[in-house]
Amino acid sequence: MSGKGSVSRVCLAYSGGLDTSVILRWLIEHHGCEVVAYCADVGQEEELSGLPDKAKATGAVDCVVRDLREEFVRDYVYPSVRGNAVYEGTYLLGTALARPLIAKHQIDVARETGCDAVAHGATGKGNDQVRFELAYRALAPELAVIAPWRDWDLRSRTDCMAYAQKHGIPVTATVKKPYSIDRNLLHISFEGGILEDPWRAPEEAMFVMTVSPEDAPDAPAEVVISFERGTPVALDGESLGAAALLTRLNRIAGAHGVGRVDMVENRFVGIKSRGVYETPGGTVLHAAHRAVESITLDREVMHERDRLAPRFAELIYNGFWFSPEMDFVRAAIERSQENVTGEARIRLFKGGLQVTGRRSPVSLYDAELSTFEEDTTYDQSDATGFIRLQGLRLPRRER
Ligand code: ARG
Repeated sequence: MSGKGSVSRVCLAYSGGLDTSVILRWLIEHHGCEVVAYCADVGQEEELSGLPDKAKATGAVDCVVRDLREEFVRDYVYPSVRGNAVYEGTYLLGTALARPLIAKHQIDVARETGCDAVAHGATGKGNDQVRFELAYRALAPELAVIAPWRDWDLRSRTDCMAYAQKHGIPVTATVKKPYSIDRNLLHISFEGGILEDPWRAPEEAMFVMTVSPEDAPDAPAEVVISFERGTPVALDGESLGAAALLTRLNRIAGAHGVGRVDMVENRFVGIKSRGVYETPGGTVLHAAHRAVESITLDREVMHERDRLAPRFAELIYNGFWFSPEMDFVRAAIERSQENVTGEARIRLFKGGLQVTGRRSPVSLYDAELSTFEEDTTYDQSDATGFIRLQGLRLPRRER
């Protein structure tokens, strides 16, 4: 997307940081357009009250801040828990889940404020550009898309600082940020800086949501999570809304050092990337959900869903939240969750977590069937024919 006059009003996903501040002014200068700044509150814990003034001081005609925390956890995080979505067996998808939601509201704001284009501050090397733009494309194909990081000739943070200085853009942080950070109610992610060496351990001072396991309390804590149809509804018996529940669980699990992950992942664009994540509450929710499923899901339904889970995670990761294949996968997952009602007790200790109990009013677990004591329902001699038929087709081997 280039050239003056091709767009007249752009809605920019804006955080108030250096990059999006520079982008805001660059859009005005380079495209000769008006800019509506839009900021989503997904629980990044940044002060948002002064943001509209800052955006306007940088040149925006308007600034819209939306609190999306409840919707984020209810409609994005919880579905990912119901589907056990874990990318490459490790990443709980904190950033990937927020992008389609941020994009969806950006489209709404763009329409409400008469914009003919949308813009974002994601670079040309990452997953986020794909996630934003696939969502834009699915929800509003008529809007033009501007990705300044792929268009302009600013190449570094130094270039951005110089541009800000030249145009009198108010920037607060001047020290170089050691990492690329993305935070929301589900997680915080760190990439870049010293983490680019995959052998180098992260510094303890980097972590935000979790204490180091060594510094965690010497006594364990226990939490009980209640689920209805696969959805977390209560913590320690207290009914809580989605954002409130995850906020509280983050605090408890973070205080016990639970939820740190250090991995090298495969980005959609074909690059391997080292990332460190803190997902304290989400880690507990996934474990508790699996525990409730273990007594409430039919074996075959569970195994079918388990085949879909990696695909579900991949679709989230690659940015296909709003796609026909995602609708299909999600419908199957939701169908699997109808009986997933019950609670699990989780013990948190020094960075680790164990399930110590699970129960459900609709449990499929039959103590009478599984007992090692004498029972009246299961005829052990039935197993003789069962095994003989299973073995019928096995060819003989020497060893
Ligand atoms: N690697 C993770 C992902 O692709 C985290 C990305 C974080 N984004 C950022 N702009 N710092 O989901």
